[in-house]
Amino acid sequence: MDEPSLFDAAPAQRPRLSDLRDAAATCTNCGLYRDASQTVFGRGPDTARLMLVGEQPGDREDLDGRPFVGPAGRLLDRGLVDAGIDRRDVYVTNVVKHFKFVRRGKRRIHQKPNADEIAACRPWLEGELAAVRPEVVVALGATAARALLGPSFRVSRQRGEVLRLNGASCTATLHPSAILRLPDDERDAAVGDLVNDLSVAAALLGG
Ligand code: URA
Repeated sequence: MDEPSLFDAAPAQRPRLSDLRDAAATCTNCGLYRDASQTVFGRGPDTARLMLVGEQPGDREDLDGRPFVGPAGRLLDRGLVDAGIDRRDVYVTNVVKHFKFVRRGKRRIHQKPNADEIAACRPWLEGELAAVRPEVVVALGATAARALLGPSFRVSRQRGEVLRLNGASCTATLHPSAILRLPDDERDAAVGDLVNDLSVAAALLGG
């Protein structure tokens, strides 16, 4: 029989977010901690019914210590408002908790986390899922969608589809950073897709 995942943990064994956050602050499970400023753990209430999962913190998040506070976060905030979701009610986190980048002059350029880094960080995400036990999980972009829904999941084809994830409903949408990189004439439509998919999540919550 498979090991039960942390998500299924009985109440007495459920981790507490504050304990997880403290432990993750000194995580050395992979090499990313060496260059990053700090661990960027998830934020939001442990009673959140909705959890959003991104890829990894960006430059701004690395400096600030909170997820989705930079340009991608501002777009996400706008999408949440348009979908009728109050971010204060949402738990927001990332698959990988340290910023991965290469330096180019003064700039720090985001690099995609590899499979080993994603696997090394997985216990923190599983811990967050077990502690919060959201009813609905939304993966933001391909990295989060594959981490949560399996390697064959394709956001481009399957965004907005609702699947089951250990007792929760899970859907995936475009990553706000990917939307920001689109040419001007494609961006509005992609923002519309983001809002539609977040509205699916809101509807699942009965909102
Ligand atoms: N992109 C992410 O995936 N997460 C963040 O926190 C910020 C940008």
